[in-house]
Amino acid sequence: MFRLSATVALLATALAVAVPAGSAAAAGPGSPPDVAVIGHRGSGNMAPENTLASVRLALKQGADYVENDIMRTKDGQLVVTHDLSLARTTNVEQVFPERTTYQVADYTLAEIKRLDAGSWFGSEYAGQRILTLREWVEAVGSSAGMLLEAKDPWAFPGIETDIDKELRSIPTFVQALRKGRVIMQAGDEAWLRSFHQLAPDVPVALLYYTRPTDEQLVAASTWLDAVNPALGNIDEAIVDRTHELGLKTYVWTVNFGGDMNRGIDWGVDGIITDYPGVLADVLRTR
Ligand code: G3P
Ligand code: CA
Repeated sequence: MFRLSATVALLATALAVAVPAGSAAAAGPGSPPDVAVIGHRGSGNMAPENTLASVRLALKQGADYVENDIMRTKDGQLVVTHDLSLARTTNVEQVFPERTTYQVADYTLAEIKRLDAGSWFGSEYAGQRILTLREWVEAVGSSAGMLLEAKDPWAFPGIETDIDKELRSIPTFVQALRKGRVIMQAGDEAWLRSFHQLAPDVPVALLYYTRPTDEQLVAASTWLDAVNPALGNIDEAIVDRTHELGLKTYVWTVNFGGDMNRGIDWGVDGIITDYPGVLADVLRTR
């Protein structure tokens, strides 16, 4: 897996230099475009997603922000993992062969901490653990911003209260928030509205899984800070409209240089990528 990922990264870099760079988003002659490099699940295709190794690699590769996915354990602890089931990214089936469910919500934090969250990706990552939200925040520290995502919040009733309470008890988070380096995103609009009511000082971004309509963008401008669509679902007109409405836009999940350059040319505010190092290179060489 690691070797394949490294090959894809090299290919992405090669494609990046092959695509002529435009200048639409450039801040001025010779200065790099002002586009945030956002490491998806850390450096999500170069190290086991959402682990300490992945966060550290993203920071080393020049991420301005690190993205994550937040869920809740059976005993109410917040952890950083993407799937409702632990089966894809851990050895839960080997550690708990007698259990009939592998859902995050059915395991305590102590049980989850017994799982290896790195070996599925590569033997060199054996022993990586699923991080608590607190550990993840400390790992990002003051080195980068935080793009936090409440993943499938419908499965964790009341998680907005838990997230708000936990984050505010972490001095590193409080500092990052004060410096404007925190965004909370979700694909569940009703959930995001609940979180926003609870924590109006935390910037919020809604994920879009289709091309946002103009009606949706106008509505978004009444309460959101950013709209976050898949790059493949939008075009330059959408980016222009978000900016006209005073919104920012962070697009996902962009892994090839040609696509990165397309988003940069359109003037997006940030690009969420599994290869933050490649995006940082693309931005440096424009
Ligand atoms: O940050 C956007 C992206 O993470 C949404 O998709 O499934 O990777 O959480 P997913
Ligand atoms: Ca995510």
